[in-house]
Amino acid sequence: MSELLNTVDLDAKLQQETPQAILQFALDNFDNLALSFSGAEDVVLIDMAHRIRPDVKAFCLDTGRLHAETYRFIERVREHYGIEIDILFPDAEAVRKLTTEKGLFSFYRDNHQECCSIRKITPLRKKLVTLDAWVTGQRRDQNPGTRSAIPVIQEDKLFARQGGSLTKFNPLANWTSAQVWEYIRAMNVPYNELHDRGFVSIGCEPCTRPIGPGQHEREGRWWWEEATKKECGLHAQNLNAKA
Ligand code: ADX
Ligand code: SF4
Repeated sequence: MSELLNTVDLDAKLQQETPQAILQFALDNFDNLALSFSGAEDVVLIDMAHRIRPDVKAFCLDTGRLHAETYRFIERVREHYGIEIDILFPDAEAVRKLTTEKGLFSFYRDNHQECCSIRKITPLRKKLVTLDAWVTGQRRDQNPGTRSAIPVIQEDKLFARQGGSLTKFNPLANWTSAQVWEYIRAMNVPYNELHDRGFVSIGCEPCTRPIGPGQHEREGRWWWEEATKKECGLHAQNLNAKA
């Protein structure tokens, strides 16, 4: 089915649709699809997708460096919705080599790309070659520098298996943070307790901090680096699209 889709034309059409309608389209067209769940406010996608397909699948990249609150939340979501969440681990030998050679906090000195590559990108790649489509919680308002033009549907050439195709859906692309939170409150969706403590964008513990009034949510991530570098590679396509 996926090869028949012209994602550029479809994106023009789906841009006008609600996240629920985009998810409906994704689930109608792909059986072998999974939601990429970070343990943050992207839980709204699990709530929406679960209403359409109760046995929808999700996966989390467990970097080994998430907050304890995030691990607890992932488990709560699994229990609440009764869905399968595939917890993906990085290669133990690669982590061992990195931490033995450079210590546990090399990202503060070298930048985060090397650690993210081992703890997030390699496990993600391994997962995505088994799928025909994946769904992310990316939004345009999350990062004006790198996400201002993300489509709601795109061909993912970066992570597609050789000779195969992979479709990436970003159903929340056109929603604002406020809309996500309205949905969470209105539908009584469980959420990560860190959000009540000033955390807006949530990633790994050493690379995430709460933000103050007036700060953009991305300022809570990799704050020691330039704004243009605040993509970990999960969505490197955003950078290519701008180039
Ligand atoms: S990141 O690239 O900066 O880390 P961000 O935290 O904005 O990403 O999250 C955007 C989307 O990327 C999430 O909604 C989710 O789909 C995916 N994502 C991010 N981190 C993870 C993770 N640890 N596990 C699974 N998916 C993730
Ligand atoms: Fe490593 Fe930080 Fe990237 Fe997590 S966000 S994988 S701790 S560099």
